[in-house]
Amino acid sequence: EKDEYILAIETSCDETACAIVKNGKEIIANVVSSQIESHKRFGGVVPEIASRHHVEQLTVVLEEAMEKSALSFEDLDAIAVTEGPGLVGALLVGVNAAKALAFAQGLPLVGVHHIAGHIYANQLIAELKFPLLALVVSGGHTELVYMKEHASFEVIGETLDDAAGEAYDKVARTLGLPYPGGPHIDRLAHEGEPSISLPRAWLEEGSYNFSFSGLKSAVINTLHNAKQKGEEINPQDLAASFQESVIEVLVTKTMRAAEQYNVKQVLLAGGVAANKGLRSALQTAFSEKKDIELIIPPLSLCTDNAAMIAAAGSVMYKKGVRSNMKLNANPGLEL
Ligand code: KG4
Ligand code: ZN
Repeated sequence: EKDEYILAIETSCDETACAIVKNGKEIIANVVSSQIESHKRFGGVVPEIASRHHVEQLTVVLEEAMEKSALSFEDLDAIAVTEGPGLVGALLVGVNAAKALAFAQGLPLVGVHHIAGHIYANQLIAELKFPLLALVVSGGHTELVYMKEHASFEVIGETLDDAAGEAYDKVARTLGLPYPGGPHIDRLAHEGEPSISLPRAWLEEGSYNFSFSGLKSAVINTLHNAKQKGEEINPQDLAASFQESVIEVLVTKTMRAAEQYNVKQVLLAGGVAANKGLRSALQTAFSEKKDIELIIPPLSLCTDNAAMIAAAGSVMYKKGVRSNMKLNANPGLEL
């Protein structure tokens, strides 16, 4: 059978990315241009700046990916692109580029959901076995997704307020750490002790939903109260305590859902999957579960990239999913 090559474009937030993936599994080229430096001084992603960067960088990453692949456009089978969710102005740049490329080269166009991409990043390192459960933790999402087969997504739990990464970034900000704060809190947490008592939001009995805004407020209040009393709070200990609370809830709910849904695999996905504490806590928890395989992608495939969009795009393409020239950016796209 002929090999399949999919070129994918991802511009949903602050990474401009282009990748080419063979047969939905093998990375041929994976180019990511990060804009973090431009957003840092604003303490977060500025949508207008993000769009402008995408416009400047997209042709650069596209050319680099094509060059690295040593393929020509005739070798490609389809163009995949993130259609949502994300920042509308950022998504528009990728969607329009993908449409132009598909039209000019006479190639099929496949719109991909960003979270489906994060989940399918795992297909680049392992063979997926169904049914499976994916824990998606990123700057914009915290979801437990049940998949009984390919391209079937059932959200069994989600955050009711802040996403896990958002909570990390907000707590980091109150500690005076630069954006994005997740990796800084992760590092501090490993230098401290979880000695400060912080809440865990378990929500109602049996719920797979999450809530992180109460925890975030508790961290802010702890800092505020200490300041008023003239006491010193050790930032390492606060980071360790915050991280312990986040991880305990994520791991416990993931384990409970994996058992209840009798899954063969548990996949970790999204930017917060880069968290060292979360990775090792999941590994420890699942090491005792011989019948459930835990898959954790390397850091470069956890944060936003286009290889994951190509992997998900390949599954959609094989299913016959096709977008047309009316494809639009959809910032609130549902999984
Ligand atoms: O998936 P991603 O690259 O972009 C979104 O789709 O949101 O995730 C970015 C998020 C940020 O909130 C960042 O702080 C968080 O992932 N993050 C981390 C770590 N590395 C990145 N959070 C905790 N620990 C980390 N090591
Ligand atoms: Zn993402």
